[in-house]
Amino acid sequence: MYLGIDLGTSAVKTVLVDDAQRVIASESRSLATVLPQPGYSEQDPAQWIDATFATLDALKASHADALAAVAGIGLSGQMHGATLLDASLRPLRPCILWNDGRSATECRVLEQRWPALREVTGNKAMPGFTAPKLLWIAAHEPEIFAATKLVLLPKAYLRLVLSGEAVEDVSDASGSLWLDVARRDWSDAALAASGLSREHMPRLVEGCAPATTLRSELARRWGMVRRPVIAGGAGDNPAGAVGIGAIRPGASFVSLGTSGALMAPTDRIAANPDRVVHTFCHAIPGMWIQAGAILSAASCLAWLARLFGVTEAELLAPLGARPQAPSPVSFLPYLAGERTPHDDPVVRGMLDGLSHGTDRAAIVQAVLEGVAFALADCRDALADAGTWIAEADVIGGGSRSAFWLSVLANVLNIPIHRFAGGETGAAFGAARLGRLAVSGEAIEAVCTRPQRIEAFEPDVALVDAYAERLPAWRELYRPRH
Ligand code: XUL
Repeated sequence: MYLGIDLGTSAVKTVLVDDAQRVIASESRSLATVLPQPGYSEQDPAQWIDATFATLDALKASHADALAAVAGIGLSGQMHGATLLDASLRPLRPCILWNDGRSATECRVLEQRWPALREVTGNKAMPGFTAPKLLWIAAHEPEIFAATKLVLLPKAYLRLVLSGEAVEDVSDASGSLWLDVARRDWSDAALAASGLSREHMPRLVEGCAPATTLRSELARRWGMVRRPVIAGGAGDNPAGAVGIGAIRPGASFVSLGTSGALMAPTDRIAANPDRVVHTFCHAIPGMWIQAGAILSAASCLAWLARLFGVTEAELLAPLGARPQAPSPVSFLPYLAGERTPHDDPVVRGMLDGLSHGTDRAAIVQAVLEGVAFALADCRDALADAGTWIAEADVIGGGSRSAFWLSVLANVLNIPIHRFAGGETGAAFGAARLGRLAVSGEAIEAVCTRPQRIEAFEPDVALVDAYAERLPAWRELYRPRH
């Protein structure tokens, strides 16, 4: 029996997976994000722990025997967040999250201070990443910077509480800008450019390797007969990849979660930081992931549902199964700024083409199309560095909408495939990493591809209609700086 815990942005999801890789139970607890100023985004690390413990306590109540048999735990997490700990390993302030845009100036400082940054880290310095956040802290909260003894990504902080040890996996560490992604090790030069050293960093392991074990008092609390091994785990996107067996070149996929991404596993680095392609180590040794990342995907639909005071399902129902033609309205999904391809933390969203005749359905469709167009920008940025995508699977909450997947197939002009249970992807992938860390089985034997339950094929007329729209949609973007 294995546990996968995904410390996401909107919730902690924990899944209990049996030896036949069936999810036998799952629990989720939501998380609140605080926006103390426009463009800022923070979470209190204490609520990650409360939420995680609540999911495990609930599993103990409902599935005590299965939980007792857990041998391995995998963690997955929202990437890039800066959790700063003092000498007693207590958080010094709320975690600054992946979608926080405050450190644009510090990104420029960092790249000037260390010109090899893009070459070594495979990425461009962007406010979402961890390193510029530390420069911001040094400049604006110097007493906190001085007191910082350890910097952890969100799931490494969770692991510290679960195990007492500070350990991180190389895929999540790739989003810090402190990792040499080719060598899969911390870069001393990168750390020095942020005023840090290896002493501030957790130990590194591969995602499928054992990292540590669950504290004995917690194993007792959840009735476990032995102390389960905790694997390295992965950032949420690489964990999602492991969940659907996207571990080798060609297995590209789209994630429609709070944020969105178009990802391609590669057996070599194909970085393109100038076009804001993200380069991450995969959770599988010897593999990397090239990704175009957009900051708002399913969160755009959630925003619209809040605005109209209805559920997302109520918004989607009138649209039917597939679009007849592009919406007369256009939407830029930059509600939290954008990464690929703009790296623009201050740009904001836009609805264009509204008229007296515009109804709610036209706006909903425009929102779904805007996210798909943003993913087309990601596709082009990946292609620029030689990563071509011929078809893609979809994971994340957004994959529940057939209409959205049909839009995506037509905008990207590739077949899009949907799996059963895509919404538990990252937690399920994490559970697989937990299993690999304990069993030492062949990676391919565990990271199998789930059965595709539906294919969305491009339709020539719609492909042409969207291709005609794309240049005008791109024209709507105006950098504010
Ligand atoms: C990836 C990214 C997001 C976060 C939160 O670069 O910022 O996917 O991991 O989901």
